[in-house]
Amino acid sequence: MIHVEQNVFTLHTRRTTYQCKADGHGVLLHTYYGPRVGDDDLSYLIRPADRGFSPNPSEAGRDRNYSLDTLPQEYSTCGVGDYRLPAVVAENADGSQIVDLRFVRSEVRPGKYALEGLPAFYADAAEADTLVLTLQDRTTRLTVELYYGVFEESDLICRAARIVNHGSAPVRLLRACSACLDFPSDALDLITFDGRHTMEREPSRAPLRPGVQSVGSIRGASSHQHNPFVMLCEPGASEDYGLCYGAALLYSGGFEAAAEADQFHSARLTLGVSPYHFCWTLEPGEAFTTPEAAFICSPDGFAAMSHRFHRAIRRNLCRDPYSGRRRPLLVNNWEATLFDFNADKLVEIAQAAAPLGIDMLVMDDGWFGKRCSDFGGLGDWTVNEEKLPGGLEALAPRIHALGLDFGIWIEPEMVCEDSELYAQHPDWAFRAPGRAPTRGRSQLVLDFTREEVRDHIYRALCKAIRSTDIRYLKWDFNRSLSDVWSAAIPPERQGEVYHRYVLGLYDMLERFHRDFPDLLIEGCSGGGGRFDAGMLYYTPQIWCSDNTDAIDRLRIHYGTSFCYPVSSMGSHVSAVPNDQTGRVTPLETRGIVAMSGAFGYELDLSRCTEDERAIMARQNADYQRYYGLIHEGDYYRLTDPFADPQYTAWAHVSADKREALVSLVTGAARSALPFVTLRLKGLDGSLHYRVNGSQQAYSGSALMHAGYPIPPMRGDYQAMQLHLVAE
Ligand code: GLA
Repeated sequence: MIHVEQNVFTLHTRRTTYQCKADGHGVLLHTYYGPRVGDDDLSYLIRPADRGFSPNPSEAGRDRNYSLDTLPQEYSTCGVGDYRLPAVVAENADGSQIVDLRFVRSEVRPGKYALEGLPAFYADAAEADTLVLTLQDRTTRLTVELYYGVFEESDLICRAARIVNHGSAPVRLLRACSACLDFPSDALDLITFDGRHTMEREPSRAPLRPGVQSVGSIRGASSHQHNPFVMLCEPGASEDYGLCYGAALLYSGGFEAAAEADQFHSARLTLGVSPYHFCWTLEPGEAFTTPEAAFICSPDGFAAMSHRFHRAIRRNLCRDPYSGRRRPLLVNNWEATLFDFNADKLVEIAQAAAPLGIDMLVMDDGWFGKRCSDFGGLGDWTVNEEKLPGGLEALAPRIHALGLDFGIWIEPEMVCEDSELYAQHPDWAFRAPGRAPTRGRSQLVLDFTREEVRDHIYRALCKAIRSTDIRYLKWDFNRSLSDVWSAAIPPERQGEVYHRYVLGLYDMLERFHRDFPDLLIEGCSGGGGRFDAGMLYYTPQIWCSDNTDAIDRLRIHYGTSFCYPVSSMGSHVSAVPNDQTGRVTPLETRGIVAMSGAFGYELDLSRCTEDERAIMARQNADYQRYYGLIHEGDYYRLTDPFADPQYTAWAHVSADKREALVSLVTGAARSALPFVTLRLKGLDGSLHYRVNGSQQAYSGSALMHAGYPIPPMRGDYQAMQLHLVAE
């Protein structure tokens, strides 16, 4: 609900309130974001003060108490006396870098705004409202429209900015954040999700310290290294207690999330496209739209924040062709065969998969062009007939005849120098004039800023997809950008290439969404190198990591789950010893870990023993039985695998709290361990639950406060599940 009164803008969600106010000078001040309060003007909280070296705008006259440097800003400016992080930096035609924004008007609209060419949360008119606040620099007439989407039920506040040049001379944007959020106190911890290839999204928590702390990516993709989701919280906040804020950027390219603790111990968070390598020219009349930022404030700890992000992402962000139906349980041949496969081998795997309750075979990398290793072939999206005689038209019916659907791997954004595409169009790959390009996995990145490049790749992929009945694409992206220079863009606009690349990617994904509405696309970037809320708009599931080791996955899923729902985490059972770690874990454990996600297999099923197949059939049936709980239920992190690797536990609880699935995995075996009593979460304290069909029914409040005794488990990396059903 949006309440507007005398230039005070109050956004209420069910549990939170967000407020800003245009003051007498037209400066848009941020007054509050936190637990729900009324509509009162909260600007009384702001204490103007004369502070040394905090200058005063000219219209303040002799009032030295008024300074942009000390006032909480809603969208911070540059060059006019606020020395904290700017939300926008622009170079004007006269060379000055000054943007002085003053309030012009407001507008409230029913429903949620959309952003052309960019991912955004969506809603029907009853579910969300939009506020648009227009600010303008009176000298240059550079205008900033601030968009707010208010989702009452999920406590989600979305923001984006549209920067329009209403002046008569060009302006160069050097920084254009999606949002700026000021906090009255810097007594906050910043939590970021960091890592590397095969070990993504490890939470890192530290108190804000004076100055700017930031994470980001200059890789052209959101990256394995830092995720475009960060949190700020009170120092004592935990899973179940305390005020916390989650901030997600719906963007799949380079980003920056920066938190600043300033001289007076207030704090500012800015979130947006990375300002490095960014320079965007706005001719008169042109506009730049930032990606969307999404915020959820939870007064009650991290779990509640995660639940709301999960629900909003599932319901209002992912455009899932399987919505209302179950997504396929799939087997992917990558770890089974790497590049070394042919049609008969795939059919063999599919034959082994069919009786196990597996729904789909996904043919991974290596089916096209001269692709027998990762040194060549990318860019040539025609079937390699040596491996697949008769093409997809011949292979797919053999898979379908076994009762399985068929999906394929693609990497549309890339080209190998050893390919026909590169021979014909060497200028279609990013490379700067006079320089040899930097290779990543022996491949170059196609210039997706160019429509002709996108058209060519799209046509080739459509031909492959339309040649037979393909239900799924795994959309991969296996290197970071370098040598970013586009032959189609003039030198003075090369600072736009990184962002235009992402817009090109989104354009391609949108074409698939439009032309193949039933096609499920799983995102991937060497696993989780582009696991962000932007991609989830197009790809409702993303291969979570190239690390399929069940024990490492516990940590990866844990970190990923702070923002992203388990239904978005592609997660497979693979062979042991594990390809990435060499670790041997029981098949039951691998199944229990992987089924808390978009489940599948990644091994040669035709080489499994009868015992293994029996276990797989059972765990697939379990997955189907618990599908609703896993995909729709609330996800609770019951332990922190970084703090205690000996026991990792999590739970899925149905919305009505009458059913829950608790999973627990142990670390390496140790003798004479203390007894473990696991305290559950999210149950209804007034109900009684049977655990795995037990005679005895346990009270929900006892299970949550006193706990449930975990039986001793012998051996390394054991796992168990408890299925709770209310009486
Ligand atoms: C990436 C993916 C893998 C696999 C390979 C194929 O690394 O993350 O799952 O598809 O590419 O080359």
